Amino acid sequence: MSALPNTHEVLLRNAHLLNGRPALLGVSDASLLPRCPVPGIAMTEHAGLWQILSHDTDWAGCFGYEPDRQQQGSCDTVVVFLPKARAECELRLALARYLGKPGAALVVIGEKKEGIAGAIKQFSVVAGEVVKVDSARHCQVWCGRNTQPLTKFRLTDWLSWTELSCAGVALSVAGLPGVFSLGRLDDGTRMLLETLAESPLGVDRVLDFACGAGVIGSWLHGFHQLAGKKPIRVDGTDVQAQAVFCARESYRKAGVNGEIFAADGLAAVQGKWPAVISNPPFHTGVKTDTSMTEQFLAQVAAHLAHGGELRLVANSFLPYEALIRQHIGPVEKLAQDRRFTVYRAFRKKSG
Ligand SMILES: C[S@@+](CC[C@H](N)C(=O)[O-])C[C@H]1O[C@@H](n2cnc3c(N)ncnc32)[C@H](O)[C@@H]1O
Repeated sequence: MSALPNTHEVLLRNAHLLNGRPALLGVSDASLLPRCPVPGIAMTEHAGLWQILSHDTDWAGCFGYEPDRQQQGSCDTVVVFLPKARAECELRLALARYLGKPGAALVVIGEKKEGIAGAIKQFSVVAGEVVKVDSARHCQVWCGRNTQPLTKFRLTDWLSWTELSCAGVALSVAGLPGVFSLGRLDDGTRMLLETLAESPLGVDRVLDFACGAGVIGSWLHGFHQLAGKKPIRVDGTDVQAQAVFCARESYRKAGVNGEIFAADGLAAVQGKWPAVISNPPFHTGVKTDTSMTEQFLAQVAAHLAHGGELRLVANSFLPYEALIRQHIGPVEKLAQDRRFTVYRAFRKKSG
């Protein structure tokens, strides 16, 4: 059996804390579930993992922060695995208060390097007197009670809006705790959008892979509107629940035409587009991880029409140029600085 993340191992060391029906918030490895005493609710933000939880286990899967209404007050123990962003900790604790019965046991587990000490301050505000019950594998386990249960939990109450502008196009972007580049326009995305203003795609349908909060689609929509061009359709895909929610909200507010899919990579995505655009992921947690983007580059040609364009921005030190040439076709650099490069390639007609 492969090793579980530290936080999951530490929960199993403390399985006696899982009394009655549990909810586990922030599951990152499905093999934790069959090793728990009884099933309950398992929340993950990851679309691929959510598919596994919902179909291959006895647990009720919850994709991010959109619980079922019947799940309110249904759990005796709620475990919160600490998220990376401090603001998301508050959101996760609010979901715990909603899912837990009044007085239910609340358990917070997190790695020291991910800021468990700060999170415990937030925890004690909502869970009365909290106590540390274990410390192992670089993690701590804290327990409290659901002293302030919530009878309402609406993700829209946590939404924020950021007004951005790039290359003369103004846009409003939805935000939630944990979403990429919350409250600001990422510098790589900005460089990508500037190349789109200088060298437009010239198509009426695009796929935005790893769309985050829907910045690129909202910008393309605004750009076409400003230029008096025919409306463009921008479909988007992202693995993270908050990104999917925000992208749909950003699209709804601006009236962008396009569908947002929750998907891990391209494997479950159907269809071909005349252009695919991306500011792809390069992190897993805090580590640089290029594997997702390498896989995307190996698969993207199957989703590009013959002669279709791939436009991608990435950190200049990442080794994508050769892969783009290998899988798609000759590569041009449309912009570059010390940090980022924007690549363009057209799918070989014969491929
Ligand atoms: C660098 S951000 C770019 C977001 C957005 N395009 C922008 O420019 O603001 C990368 C995005 O990739 C998403 N992501 C990470 N792994 C993924 C995967 N396996 N499949 C799809 N999207 C993924 C993340 O959730 C994140 O929103």
